[in-house]
Amino acid sequence: MIAILGAGSLGRLWAASLPAGDVAFVPRPGASSEGPVAFRLQQLDGSVSDISVPWLVPGDPVDLLLVTTKAGDTLKAISDFIDLFPDNLPLVLFQNGLGSQQAVAEHWPDRPVLAASTTEGANRPDVDRVIHAGSGQTWIGALNEEAGHHVSPTVKRLAASGLTIHPERDILNRLWQKLVINAGINPFTAILNCANGEILSSELYQQNIDSLCNEIARLMTANGQRNEGAETLRQQIETVACNTARNTSSMRSDMLAGRKTEIDFINGYLVRLGNTLEIPTPVNQMLTEQVKLLSPN
Ligand code: PAF
Repeated sequence: MIAILGAGSLGRLWAASLPAGDVAFVPRPGASSEGPVAFRLQQLDGSVSDISVPWLVPGDPVDLLLVTTKAGDTLKAISDFIDLFPDNLPLVLFQNGLGSQQAVAEHWPDRPVLAASTTEGANRPDVDRVIHAGSGQTWIGALNEEAGHHVSPTVKRLAASGLTIHPERDILNRLWQKLVINAGINPFTAILNCANGEILSSELYQQNIDSLCNEIARLMTANGQRNEGAETLRQQIETVACNTARNTSSMRSDMLAGRKTEIDFINGYLVRLGNTLEIPTPVNQMLTEQVKLLSPN
């Protein structure tokens, strides 16, 4: 059975897509776990399905754990119950940004820790409604040595969802590629309170994007991550901003809903890495500070 920790939009998309009877949500301490998690899923073709996913109960034979919590909640959420599971249970981390995945791998060095990078689009406009807004792809790779031989069985297992999923040898680089996009779009959309495409013509973006990409390219190189330079990073950011022009980014949604954003794991992560590597990151720092002023961080 596959256990899912984190019943947000992504967790619910996976729960709804995996074979019923083979999946359950992990109850959070203190939260009510009476009755199954029931919601409606709007599929890509617009059709709507009623989904019901049980909570995990003691004795359920869990052989895979998907962690779909927000980056900032992950370490604590896993700590709350991981001791109940066998040491060889593979964990697949779906968090945005970077920093939380490494923290988990460092905290439990003997457990198989994998990471996923996904472009599936899902959002949750109401408590009991999830929209699968865009079909995407998911890459899974090992974050530590223990996880090496779990990649292919995990990919096979998750392929039963019907979502497109691939093994990835260099998952860290894949996470970096997504971090670049998030670092170049999300804070601007939150600060300017606008859709992704609208950032491109703003003064804030125009004045800072080249310096931001220079900071990220230097960090990537110093961190041993291949990259094709600042100009290519800017092009990649702008391609995604154009392709998702009317979308509300996850950071803007968090800000509008009064939730804590993931800035500490996106531009904030780059600032911390810059401090460690002695590479100045004034633009990442400015964006991090401005987003923090707008949300309860
Ligand atoms: O974080 C998000 O919302 C998305 O990753 C992206 C690429 C900015 C598109 O909305």
